[in-house]
Order: sequence, then C-alpha cells, then structure tokens
Amino acid sequence: FAVLGQLFHTPVKGDFEYLPQALVCIDNLGNILSVTTDDDSGFDANIQQLEQAGKLTRLTDSQYLMPGMVDLHVHAPQWPQAGKGLDLPLYDWLQDYTFPLEAKFADNSFAQPMYRSAVETLLANGTTSAVYFATIHNEASVTLAKTCLELGQRGFVGKINMDDASQCPDYYLEDTVQGLADTEQFIQDVLALPGNEQRLVSPVVTPRFVPSCTPQMLKGLGELTTKYKCHVQTHCSESDWARDYSLEHYGKSDVAIYQEMGLLTRKTILAHSIFLSDDDCEAIKATGASIAHCPLSNMYFANAAMKTREILDKDLHVGLGTDISGAPVPSVFHTCLDAVNHSRVREDGTNTHLPAPERGEAGSRISFLESYWMATVGGGLAIDTKVGLFAPEYAFDALIIDTQAPDSDLFVIPELDTPRDRLEKIIALNRRTNVRKVYVQGKQVINKDA
Ligand code: GUN
Ligand code: FE
Repeated sequence: FAVLGQLFHTPVKGDFEYLPQALVCIDNLGNILSVTTDDDSGFDANIQQLEQAGKLTRLTDSQYLMPGMVDLHVHAPQWPQAGKGLDLPLYDWLQDYTFPLEAKFADNSFAQPMYRSAVETLLANGTTSAVYFATIHNEASVTLAKTCLELGQRGFVGKINMDDASQCPDYYLEDTVQGLADTEQFIQDVLALPGNEQRLVSPVVTPRFVPSCTPQMLKGLGELTTKYKCHVQTHCSESDWARDYSLEHYGKSDVAIYQEMGLLTRKTILAHSIFLSDDDCEAIKATGASIAHCPLSNMYFANAAMKTREILDKDLHVGLGTDISGAPVPSVFHTCLDAVNHSRVREDGTNTHLPAPERGEAGSRISFLESYWMATVGGGLAIDTKVGLFAPEYAFDALIIDTQAPDSDLFVIPELDTPRDRLEKIIALNRRTNVRKVYVQGKQVINKDA
C-alpha cells in the first residue's frame, strides 16, 4: 500500500526535510519500498494505479506523515503511579512508592490490565517503539512482551534484576543464581513467543542500576548478553547518590563498571547518564552504546542538568525517554519539548543583548529539530533498528498527525507559518488527539477516524 501527502522527518541531525507531496510505498513485510515526489517520473501514473487498486491513503491539507516516536526508557509497571510522589528525591521515591508498587507484579492478574493500559496509552500518543523496564517477575514480564505483540507495538522488554539485599527491600529482591536462571528463561520465552517470528518484540538484559545488583549478578548478566547477543538497558549515573555509590563501592564510574562486566555494547541503552567523564564518553562512543536522555525526570531526580548539547556535539548515540513514572507524561512529543526546556535553563547570557551574567553555560541550548531527531532517528540508532525516518528499507513505523483534530491545541496558520514553524508547533503542542493513525511495521495499529 501507499500513503500520499505532506511529510516531515529529520534525516540529518539539526536539520529537517519537508516534502509537500510525497508518495511512500510500503511492501508486504511493512518496510518502505520507495519515497517519491512529483519530480520523479511516473509519479502521477503510479498514484492512479494505486488508487484504482484501492491501495492508496491520501492525507488532507491539515494532515502530516511523520515517523513514529521511539521511547528509549519507560517503566511500564510504574504507569499506575504516574504523577505521584514527584516532589521527593530518588531514594525516597523508590522506597516509598516504586518498590511497593512493582512488588505487586508478582501477581500476573494484577499485571495484565496495568500493562495493557500502559501500552495502549503510549501507542495512542504516537510511541511506535518502546524500551521497557518491567519488574523482577518472569510471568508478568512475559505478559508485557505479549501485550506489545498483541497491540502491535515494537517492544524491547526487560525483566529487571535486583539481588543486593543491602539496597533492595526484602519483599522485592531476587536470589543471584535464581535471578540469572530466570533471566535466561525470560530471554528464551520472549524469543519463542507465538507471533514473534518477525521479532517485533525483543528481550533486554536489565540490571536495574549498580546499587541494586551484586558484582556476581552484573557479571552473569554480561555473560547472558554475550551468549544471546541481547539488548541491554540500565540506569547510569542518574543522581549524586547513584554516582557516588559506584565510586564508593567499585572505585570507578557506572560506565566503567558496566564495561568491565560485559554490559556495554552497541545494543546498550544507558538511561540518564548525567555525570559522564571524558573516559566514559570515549567508552560509549567506541562501543556504539546509546544514552536515553530523560529531561523531565532529570529535573526531579538528577540534582544537576544533563549535558545534552555536549553529548550531541560529541556525536554519541542519543535518544529520548519519558522515564514514566520518574516523569508523568506518556508522550515523546512532550519529551522533545522538555529536552529543549532543559537545555535552555542551563544557558548563560551570551545570546542576549546584555552582558553575560556569571552563571550558566555558553551555547548550551538545543533546537527543536535536534530534540525531534533524538526522538526519531536517535532512538532508531539506539535500538539498532531501521526506524525513525522515511527511506527505502526502513520499517514503516509512522504517524498521521492532524493539526485540526477535535479538541486540538494546535493552531497552524498557513499564511504565517513556514514549514519549519509548523514542525516546531507540532513538536511543542501535539496532543494525543492529533495522533490520528499509527502504523508499526506497516500495520495500522491505531485509527481514531474509523
Ligand atoms: N533508578 C533506579 N530505579 C529507578 C527507577 O525506577 N526510575 C528512575 N527514574 N530511576 C531509577
Ligand atoms: Fe528510569
């Protein structure tokens, strides 16, 4: 089938492409065959043929075809508490809210409706790929993977590991040997799920963070990562407390610990990564690992600002994460806005007409185009999957955004708004209602106009 209409994407970091009339053709496996415009020969004849065969979707003047959003860091079991306790520091929030809630996922019948609501909500907001932390429980974690498959979301799902009794509560703790055996079983179960032949859902090795795991656990998880060539996700240097814990207990940074344990690979996603040394950045770059920037949760828990500008300039792989429920908003569009805001509060005064005050960082701001690149192309690089832009061989993971949807906050004025203005407005003001259709791997998984 094919989609015809105006299209936005950001193939080059910091830039954008707007095609006023593009024809995107998709093959039977859900991958993009071609992207053509009226400059290409046979364009009109092609459209006619597709239309007659009933295979063409035509967008209206207020609709835009855009890549699906990639959420690189989201805690699905925390969805029921989104919005609670965000005036607390990280340690208290984990002990008082998060661990008691996650412990309830021992009961799969509790987990099922929670996971369904999480995946449905993210999809409806335009998240076509999500990298999930589940809980320590195998059965419920497989339920999350099955839910992604059933609802058609590209899912990267991790059963969490937590075996350090000095840091984890006794009601939410696993034995080291049993936890490693459970993780291997989880990996095998997800790979063997019926309906997962095209690998829409992948297992992810998921040590929660350095404080929750013993060295034996980290080492064993490194071995599983090598054996199954798995994706890896974890929290990295997220707060003063988390950073200092690694330095005190291992005499080195989180990044160095993960690398030593075999957990830093091309398919590793490090959430947060606020306090990176030059050596850490070099190790991340050399391995091709990625950073999940979670701007809003950083504002609550980091006690510091993310160096987004510097990380983009170093050409590290970096994408965005909502970090539900370390931040409450289930939309990566919102995360784009947060990323810009986060970078702007770091600024000094060199971009004003006044003398610069002695505070802040020169040139720290990032652009809307860069934040949107992180949410799409950057996310695709991090999951090592061809998604995030419109080009042959990329999966057709896409959204149809309508700026005139019912109850929309978006107000686009064609005479005033250039294509770039329109894209910035969509990034800043897109709401759930504007996401009319969602496609994952060529399959329409949401249609609000049906
Ligand atoms: N660090 C360890 N666990 C968590 C978690 O669940 N959320 C966040 N934001 N940080 C963490
Ligand atoms: Fe997190």
